[in-house]
Amino acid sequence: MASSQTLTSLFFFSSLVAFCYAATNSYKQPKPTAILFSIRRNETTRQYYTTFTFGESNIIVGALIDLGAPDVWFDCTSYVSSSYKRASCGSNRCKKAKGSVCLGCNSTPRPGCSNNTCGVFAYNPFREYLTSQELGVDTMTSISSTDGRYVQLYYDVPKFQFSCADASIVEGLPGDYTKGLVGLARTQVSLTSQISSSFKLPQKFALCIPSLTENGLGSMFIGGGPYYMPPLNEDLSLSLVSTPLVINPVSTAPAYSEGDPSDEYFINVKDIEISGKRVAFDLSLLSFDKNGVGGTKISTIAPYTILHASIYKRLVKDFIKAAALNKIKRVKSVAPFGACFDSKTAPKTITGPAVPDIDLVLEGNTARLRLYGSNSMVEVKKNVICLAFIDGGVEPRTSIVLGGYQLEERLLEFDLAASKLGFTSSLLVWNTSCSQSRLF
Ligand SMILES: *[C@@H]1O[C@H](CO)[C@@H](O)[C@H](O)[C@H]1NC(C)=O
Ligand SMILES: *[C@@H]1O[C@H](CO)[C@@H](O)[C@H](O)[C@H]1NC(C)=O
Ligand SMILES: *[C@@H]1O[C@H](CO)[C@@H](O)[C@H](O)[C@H]1NC(C)=O
Repeated sequence: MASSQTLTSLFFFSSLVAFCYAATNSYKQPKPTAILFSIRRNETTRQYYTTFTFGESNIIVGALIDLGAPDVWFDCTSYVSSSYKRASCGSNRCKKAKGSVCLGCNSTPRPGCSNNTCGVFAYNPFREYLTSQELGVDTMTSISSTDGRYVQLYYDVPKFQFSCADASIVEGLPGDYTKGLVGLARTQVSLTSQISSSFKLPQKFALCIPSLTENGLGSMFIGGGPYYMPPLNEDLSLSLVSTPLVINPVSTAPAYSEGDPSDEYFINVKDIEISGKRVAFDLSLLSFDKNGVGGTKISTIAPYTILHASIYKRLVKDFIKAAALNKIKRVKSVAPFGACFDSKTAPKTITGPAVPDIDLVLEGNTARLRLYGSNSMVEVKKNVICLAFIDGGVEPRTSIVLGGYQLEERLLEFDLAASKLGFTSSLLVWNTSCSQSRLF
């Protein structure tokens, strides 16, 4: 409860600031350098979420961050705003949003219930529930601009587009506080793309996903760097190593048209190494077949990296071997993990327990994403740490789904114009973290 109160007062504060700006400044605000959203982590659900406000009464919406989802949707059942507008069937806005059906509603008219309304897809990945919901637009209010270091000014985003959904879609969404989902995928209607377009910022965004829950405000930057993580007094955009973002030619969405590519973010993993030694598995799993099966994508909703069974088995086996060489004592496995260890035998370091490093060798000259103990081992109970990877079975659509735990505490920049992913080493190496408060 404490954390949601903090959240409310925090937003109350930012709304107040925004209100003061609106009241005292009639001049045109300068163009922002970049926009900043917070990222929070829910310890129980292992999901990441953000919060934003909408409409003339600043309705607060908590929504899960889904890197792979195309658009923004939330439960509209108690949404009240005089600035809200729905898109009608056949309107330009509807065509642009690839409206799928024409909706009607038999109840009292309100946002989310009207006739002759453009319906767009909204998808709840936790229940694999796909539905068409009203396409609405309203003003997103009080978003923060940043110079990469501090919060600067508050802005409104007029005509922000989302699915104004009914309560049924929220069922099964983890976390009591989250009533919607924000998609960051490569579409024109993702949160990031709408914000970039609205402020004419570069089509890039960066995530710094926190590993902490309490005091753990991570950052989502929209529009590019610089990026600062105090106390480190260095622009992290200078430390980014990059690898191409690759396009899966076959859509991975629950509904799509023949010939549509996937709008999720894939990278080209070429190899996996443990303590510098190759993990032997069938490398053809790392590329796409003609049906778009295979490859590696990045996901913020998979709590842990999910591997094709044959990669998983080898990784676990080789890791156990490498751990044994380092005198790390194996203990009974705790589901769903396949290898657990006595943490007393893996001394704590600045980058987590001292275990063998796991490297993802990526396309690009020197591109290696190194997973230290803080990204590879999860503590499941007192003195027991487990290798934080999940067996994805023998026929997964995607061979490697790089999940949240492996993405935490580093800066990840998605540059859509250049089609590349930039990433830093674990920030823990520099004695800093993503949880650096910028709000005050
Ligand atoms: C939609 O049209 C039907 C039939 O004309 C009507 O009964 C219903 O009240 C309308 N719904 C709304 C939300 O206006
Ligand atoms: C985190 O998720 C749990 C389980 O759904 C929920 O009870 C809790 O309220 C959530 N916390 C926040 C801050 O949303
Ligand atoms: C890291 O920061 C902590 C305080 O935040 C400090 O106590 C510690 O000495 C620092 N370690 C290094 C290696 O700089």
